[in-house]
Amino acid sequence: MNVVDTGADGAQGDGGVPAGVDQRAVAAGGGVVVQVGGNATVTVEQTVRRVLPRQLPAAPGVFAGRVAELVALDRAAGVGAPDGVAASGAVMISAIGGAGGVGKTWLALTWAHRNLHRFPDGQLFVDLHGFSPTGRPISPAEALRGLLDALGVAPDHVPSGPDAQAALYRGLIAGRRMLVVLDNAATAEQVVPLLPGSPTCTVLVTGRTTLASLIDRYGALCLPKMSSVQVRRRGGTR
Ligand SMILES: Nc1ncnc2c1ncn2[C@@H]1O[C@H](COP(=O)(O)OP(=O)(O)OP(=O)(O)O)[C@@H](O)[C@H]1O
Ligand SMILES: [Mg+2]
Repeated sequence: MNVVDTGADGAQGDGGVPAGVDQRAVAAGGGVVVQVGGNATVTVEQTVRRVLPRQLPAAPGVFAGRVAELVALDRAAGVGAPDGVAASGAVMISAIGGAGGVGKTWLALTWAHRNLHRFPDGQLFVDLHGFSPTGRPISPAEALRGLLDALGVAPDHVPSGPDAQAALYRGLIAGRRMLVVLDNAATAEQVVPLLPGSPTCTVLVTGRTTLASLIDRYGALCLPKMSSVQVRRRGGTR
């Protein structure tokens, strides 16, 4: 039986898991058991297909500038560090902020596609609809259900409680070289339950607001607020 520790989040009390909770994922053959301890212990057992999620939208075609931002993202992601894992042992989180339409998503997708080889265990992408003219921001619970689906968890095997869902999610990606793109976040509270606990994962968050608590609590790299780039096209600029 393999025991996969889900990382430090069980002790942090973040991501919907109360402080002091004993949280670990135990993988045995095709089955996964996630145990969320504390006063109310929840145990979820299920069979999970081992899938390789590739959820990134297509890479932007024309992409101009953003050299400094791409270098900063490289650094934050430990590019050049041994194994590409941050020396701190913490999950690597980069936050890309700026006004609507400035190019946050394009930057995230461009960096992600240029670095696909660093994430052989898959890429997860969630549009959190933080600033969507047509709808409300999606809840962490909705996002988690989508992530579990992408990771091969059948709907009838998704545990009911948010703590157990978050624990299962973190357990499934623990130790895997994965990229998690959380696009268009409204608040840090929306993002925190979706953060992996494993330093083998890299997270890119985009949003129009400064997600200050991600920096304070998780040491996220916050790129300087972006302004729009000038893109030269035949016949003029935009
Ligand atoms: N570096 C770039 N080079 C060329 N075009 C770009 C670049 N960045 C953005 N664009 C153009 O600007 C448009 C808007 O970019 P993007 O969708 O990334 O904005 P955003 O900051 O994510 O906006 P929102 O806050 O609404 O999500 C893109 O569809 C693309 O046409
Ligand atoms: Mg965007």
